[in-house]
Amino acid sequence: MKIGVFDSGVGGLSVAQAIEKALPENEIIFRDDRLHVPYGSRQPDEIFGFVVPIFENLIGAGCSVIVVACNTVTTTLIDRLRLHFADTPLIGVEPMVKSAAERTKSGVVAVYATSTTLASPRYKWLKENYAPDIKVLEPDCNDWSSMIESNKIDHEKISARTSEVLDQGADVIVLGCTHYHWIETEIKELAAGKATVLQPEAALVEQLKQVLQQLD
Ligand code: DGL
Repeated sequence: MKIGVFDSGVGGLSVAQAIEKALPENEIIFRDDRLHVPYGSRQPDEIFGFVVPIFENLIGAGCSVIVVACNTVTTTLIDRLRLHFADTPLIGVEPMVKSAAERTKSGVVAVYATSTTLASPRYKWLKENYAPDIKVLEPDCNDWSSMIESNKIDHEKISARTSEVLDQGADVIVLGCTHYHWIETEIKELAAGKATVLQPEAALVEQLKQVLQQLD
């Protein structure tokens, strides 16, 4: 089966690799949006206009399902996109607030995400529903997707933000932007012994397996 994977940029490649490893018998067609990346501080309407032709292209290329490997698109637009592409299952990724709330012992978690994700009603809903009594720290990661996209990683910045959240007692760090999967190892090393780092690839693969079974 053909699986479309989309992200604004290199974040989706990490997700595509995880899918390829878990489901090698399928063909993955990856699309990004080099022209408009990063999406992280753009408005939902603008992003909608960018992604619709790309999804049409993936469907035209024969994809039976599209993985929206972008928290920014999922948290702001997944409902609208599902209405627009009603015949194609869309699987999204969003910050793992529920898992973080279930795991934390300190009652403090940190979510690393783009400003558009953090401002979305869906993210607000996740916090209100799953983490009403949890302190959720949202460090400024605004330029992180650009720095990862251009492969100019500011290690001091990552270390400083992570030290800040650890100092405030966070014992779970959620990677709420797929670009940050590329610095997961670095963040895990910084947080070793103090915080667990969560990202959604394993859960997404499980969800995708179920959708593929239904399509079969
Ligand atoms: N990788 C995307 C996400 O998960 C978007 C990053 C960006 O384009 O700013 O949010």
